[in-house]
Amino acid sequence: MSDWLNQVFCEDALAGLARIPDGSIDLILTDPPYNLGKDYGNASDQQSVDDYLLWTEQWIDAALPKLKPNGSLYIFLTWRFSPEIFVMLKKRMTMMNEIIWDRRVPSMGGSVRSYSSVHDTIGFFVGRKDYYFDLDAVRIPYDAETKKARTRSIFIGAKWLEVGYNPKDLWSVSRLHREHPERADHPTQKPLEIIERMVKASCPPDGVVLDLFMGSGTTAIAAKRTGRNYVGFELNPDYCAIIAERLAMPEVPAPPPKKKPVPRAKRSLVNS
Ligand SMILES: C[S@@+](CC[C@H](N)C(=O)[O-])C[C@H]1O[C@@H](n2cnc3c(N)ncnc32)[C@H](O)[C@@H]1O
Repeated sequence: MSDWLNQVFCEDALAGLARIPDGSIDLILTDPPYNLGKDYGNASDQQSVDDYLLWTEQWIDAALPKLKPNGSLYIFLTWRFSPEIFVMLKKRMTMMNEIIWDRRVPSMGGSVRSYSSVHDTIGFFVGRKDYYFDLDAVRIPYDAETKKARTRSIFIGAKWLEVGYNPKDLWSVSRLHREHPERADHPTQKPLEIIERMVKASCPPDGVVLDLFMGSGTTAIAAKRTGRNYVGFELNPDYCAIIAERLAMPEVPAPPPKKKPVPRAKRSLVNS
């Protein structure tokens, strides 16, 4: 087995990429610093705009040769720098989607001189037309009510009703609250539900996912839980310890089951 496979190296991604052979990665799934001034125990999120964009272009150029020709890339960003970074990537790959992650931020307080920002922007890019994409692995089941409403004979036995619908590019998934069972001690940890959807859709079983900026290790956990391999990097030794702890857990906590929407009639009863 390759000595770099299923490892998270506690080192700078730019240096560490040299460990990975070119053309060996099925999916780059990464969540770099957004340059919003956060403290990750390093200065990665506190760079000048010019330095940040230059650094971003450097790691993109170092990472892309690692992808297989039919591989894909997902990158988490916000509106602040997604325009510039999407342009960089569009010069090198084909952009398939801009996915909006609605973090389900409650309507309290917020910006007073602009609109409160409650979403992250995710770019989905591919290398060429025959990229790997398993739609069936990420279809969203219809709820019992919708299925019941489709009892007319034209719907009976309809495959689409059984297999569920194709995910759209707006993903409403709550951010991880302090008390959430998945939550580790990292300020920008992403929900497994989102990362697992990307892994299942865009990395074949037994394939390899690369995350240059592991944070609390969500990408590695998602890969492990879905039967894929992973490799990645994290600069902060405290976060590296969290990753090791999360990976060592016998049962990595599953995303909580989705709450069923309360039907309108019942909702008013609940509120009365
Ligand atoms: C946005 S966070 C990733 C969060 C992660 N997706 C999760 O779910 O926990 C970005 C991470 O990149 C790390 N980082 C910044 N510069 C790095 C570099 N040059 N090499 C490796 N990691 C780096 C930071 O320490 C931070 O933990």
